Amino acid sequence: MELPFFKKTDVVALDIGSNSVKIIQLAPAKKGWKLVKLGMSQLPPEAIVDGSIIDSMTVINAVKELIAQQDIKVKNTVSALTGHSVIIKKVNLPVMSEAELAESIQWEAEQYIPFPITDVNIDFQILGADTEGRGQMEVMLVAVKKDVINDYTNVIKEAGMIPVIVDVDSFALENMFEVNYPVTPNENIAIINIGATITSINVLRSGITIFTRAIPLGGNQFTEEMQKTLGISFKDAETLKLGGEVSGVDAGGVPEVIERVAGNVALEVKRSIDFFVGGAPGMFVSKIYLSGGCAKAKGLPAIIQERAAIPVEVVNPFANIECNPKKFAPDYIKDSASYFGVGVGLAVRKVGDK
Ligand SMILES: Nc1ncnc2c1ncn2[C@@H]1O[C@H](COP(=O)(O)OP(=O)(O)OP(=O)(O)O)[C@@H](O)[C@H]1O
Ligand SMILES: [Mg+2]
Repeated sequence: MELPFFKKTDVVALDIGSNSVKIIQLAPAKKGWKLVKLGMSQLPPEAIVDGSIIDSMTVINAVKELIAQQDIKVKNTVSALTGHSVIIKKVNLPVMSEAELAESIQWEAEQYIPFPITDVNIDFQILGADTEGRGQMEVMLVAVKKDVINDYTNVIKEAGMIPVIVDVDSFALENMFEVNYPVTPNENIAIINIGATITSINVLRSGITIFTRAIPLGGNQFTEEMQKTLGISFKDAETLKLGGEVSGVDAGGVPEVIERVAGNVALEVKRSIDFFVGGAPGMFVSKIYLSGGCAKAKGLPAIIQERAAIPVEVVNPFANIECNPKKFAPDYIKDSASYFGVGVGLAVRKVGDK
């Protein structure tokens, strides 16, 4: 049935993470956007492993539940894949038009992709002239394995929705940033999304992604380390990590584990930023914006700031989005904001966007 009061172009964003599925819908407002729907649903740790959907039934049910609970009427769904299954590479190619590159991209990309070219979907963005002045152009190449896209789109279809765009989490974060923060020309900032299993690092120059890296590290490392150190189950460790209590377990050792793992995460972040700077002489990163559930880990922003020697701010993906306090409790919005960085970036996409 067609619902006449929904535009065909309206979309709902689904961020299917390994720890939770987030759903969010925005609508155009007088100045920018307003929040229409927002929800999240936890997944058990074995449902999605290393970015692959292992237990699709559980994920489908979580999505269905969210749709029912939030009373979502829109069918067109924008989702994202994470760095586990996406290859993003900046390459130099001979100067050509976008149309010409679209024609030859399969052939050009072949040498950069470690899979048969027929197994992947390729996309690209022309960044501009190469910085070495060799008369070539810089192109951001994106390749995603078709079977991974299919696993995600099948879940969306099975949940009764229509997958219209499958984005990449890094580019969603770029869009989220553009909506909420002023873009300063020639300034490099990093957006770092730390989820449960993956950390996406994205350097934006003048608001455009020029470097991405995914590190298989996230909140689960904190939980697993706690599990080992305290000799408890994953579930109990997760409860303690989130500040809860577990009967019969002394939580005294928790802060030490959090600090230790946070130190490792901060070191990896610093390494990635150093790697970016090493490959781009004369450039530096002036600020880090932290997103993802792990941005809430006590002390982590401060440790990253100290180790990387770059100011860190936890991102607010609702900074510029109207949130009606009668519909969305301001405390909830504030508390859960860092979970929705990717989701907000997806929700501002429109059907027909590339
Ligand atoms: N207050 C908190 N302190 C520490 N960790 C937290 C806190 N709140 C959430 N986390 C952690 O954040 C992680 C979930 O973040 P997020 O929702 O961004 O992950 P995800 O998108 O489901 O996973 P991924 O993108 O890695 O597949 C979990 O590991 C969770 O334990
Ligand atoms: Mg995530």
